[in-house]
This record gives sequence, structure tokens and C-alpha cells, in this order.
Amino acid sequence: MIRKPVVAIAGATGAQGGGLARAILEDRDSPFAVRALTRNPDSAAARELARQGAEVVAADADDPESLERAFAGAYAAYCVTFYWQHFSPERETAQATAMARAAAHAGLGHVIWSTLEDTRRFVPLDDGRMPTLMGRYKVPHFDSKGEADAVFEELGLPVTYLLTSFYWDNFIHFGSGPARNADGRLVLSLPIGSARLPGIAARDIGGCAYGILKRGPEFAGRRVGVASGHLTGEEMAAGLSEAMGERVDYEPLPHAVFRSLDIPHAEDLGNMFQFNTEFSREFCEARDPRLARELNPGMLTFRQWAEANRGRIPVQ
Ligand SMILES: NC(=O)c1ccc[n+]([C@@H]2O[C@H](COP(=O)([O-])OP(=O)(O)OC[C@H]3O[C@@H](n4cnc5c(N)ncnc54)[C@H](OP(=O)(O)O)[C@@H]3O)[C@@H](O)[C@H]2O)c1
Repeated sequence: MIRKPVVAIAGATGAQGGGLARAILEDRDSPFAVRALTRNPDSAAARELARQGAEVVAADADDPESLERAFAGAYAAYCVTFYWQHFSPERETAQATAMARAAAHAGLGHVIWSTLEDTRRFVPLDDGRMPTLMGRYKVPHFDSKGEADAVFEELGLPVTYLLTSFYWDNFIHFGSGPARNADGRLVLSLPIGSARLPGIAARDIGGCAYGILKRGPEFAGRRVGVASGHLTGEEMAAGLSEAMGERVDYEPLPHAVFRSLDIPHAEDLGNMFQFNTEFSREFCEARDPRLARELNPGMLTFRQWAEANRGRIPVQ
């Protein structure tokens, strides 16, 4: 039997990597086989991937040798890092570096690096419009990914830099959903003013990555941004209203107010939203919904995503 080229997928039990793994596994005619990387091959999520036909291997992004073993013999790799597990930009850059080196060591034919903008190219550290965080970042969880782009480039890898977008799933898991205010109304508070925010269902990022892999070397060396749509706060509130069967009003929050909220990582996220707002044109232009849909024709629109998840969106 001819073995299919293997795609080694970091974060295969999570949102982005899981989206790619499922996109391949659910396509009976896929030209690829899945190698799912996980720290815990015995977890329910890992066992489910194995049941669906994935090869499951143990690997930890903090253990470079485990990545070398996991990438060996593969055709391609999906590289995503895990900022929200440790909140350290330096550790995230180190994880990305380890993945890039393991990809080079394995001589892979295609690498997808899930990255974001280094916002310091738009807002230098001495620009006082937003505070500098942790001594050398404006948006730590963006900047550390953007900084790692250079490592993939310096190693001469056939890499696609995949610029991801705001997960609509944040309305379920990240406390970004609507809240009931004092007068009983449902309110979606986001610090994006009237700007458009590129967004996507998290698993559809993996579907777009699958499209990139299928088109192969055409995308090597390119930056490809994916979003299903560029939505205003008003448009997201309207979609949530329809799905939740109750009116949701959008209320923009000033960035400084968001940064002072008593929520985890308020400054990092406040700076991110300020970057998203003030550089909305550049941020949107880098994420073309038409290309994303070409890559992933089944990608959900916001309204479809909201409808499919109506019972899962908690009221804060
Ligand atoms: N939320 C957003 O709107 C958004 C938008 C764009 C980009 N992002 C970025 O997306 C990244 C996270 O991706 P995701 O959402 O797909 O993650 P996720 O759903 O949180 O899942 C991450 C998976 O990675 C694995 N993992 C965690 N630490 C690991 C380590 N040290 N080594 C190997 N595997 C590890 C875990 O699997 P096991 O337990 O099985 O090992 C977990 O299932 C973050 O860096 C974030 O900044 C987020």
C-alpha cells in the first residue's frame, strides 16, 4: 500500500490544530495522513483522533527533541504555539523556534506557521498611545509570534505564514460574549469603536490550512491571512441578536477603560484591540475572506457560527 504524505500537527487536540486534523480525517479522498502531536496520548481528545485514523505521537513544544522525533519522516507540519497556557512571550518564541528547527531537521516539504503581526512595527515601543508591556512588547501575544517569523525565514524553510483572526469562539470561551447590564439589556462590549474586526470560527482556521496544504508549494514563502468576515461590533451584535432570540446592543468601550478592567490580561488584550482598531485597514487587508473561502469553501459565516452555537454562548 502506498503511504500518504504525513502532516504533523501541533495542537491537534486544540482549536486550530484540531480543525486541520478533522478537515483531513473527514475527507475520505484526502491526499494526506494525520500525525497528531499531543503531550498526552491517553487523553480522551487524543484517543478520539486515533479512533478517526490519526497517528498520535507524544510531543511537547517545550521539549525540542520530542518535536524532532514527531516531525521525522513527515511531509509537512502545522506549527502553532500556546501563549494562553503560560503567558510568556519569551517561552512562546522559544516554542516556535524549537518547531522551526525541528522542521528544518526533518527537511519538511511544507510548513505552516500560525502567526500574528509584530505590532511594534506599527506602534514602536516609544509610541505612548498604548503602554509598553513586560519591558519590550506592545501586544505580547502578537509580538512574540511575529518575532518568531524571522526564525522560520532564516532557516530557509518552505513556510506559509498563516495570519489568524479573532476567534468568534471567544464569545463562548474567553468571556467576550454579551452581558446583561443593570437595566436588563444584553450588551456586547468590545473596544473596537466602529472599526471592522476580521473574525473566524477557530476550527475553520484549520480548514484554511488544509486548503493551503492541498495547493502546496504555491503558498511557500507567502503570508496568507484568513478571516471569514470583517465585522463591526454592530454587525456582531446583530448576528448574536438573531441567534440568541433577544436583542443584543453593541457598546464600544474606550481602550484605556478596557485596559483597566479587572480581568486577566486586560492590558495585553486592550492594546490588541487598540491595534485592531487603529490599524483596522491594514489588519483587514492582510486577511482576505475571498481567499479564505477559496481555501475552505465550507467556512462558516458569523451568522452561521452564531446559529450553530446559540446554546453555548453564555451571558456574562
Ligand atoms: N483566541 C483567539 O481569538 C486567537 C486568535 C488568533 C490566534 N490565537 C492563538 O492561538 C494559539 C492557541 O491555539 P489554539 O487556540 O488552537 O489552542 P488550544 O485550543 O488552546 O489548544 C492547544 C492544544 O495545544 C496543546 N498544548 C498546549 N501546550 C502544549 C505544549 N507545551 N506542547 C505541546 N502541545 C501543547 C494542548 O494539547 P495537549 O493537552 O493534548 O498536549 C491543547 O489541546 C495561542 O497562541 C493564541 O494566541 C488565538
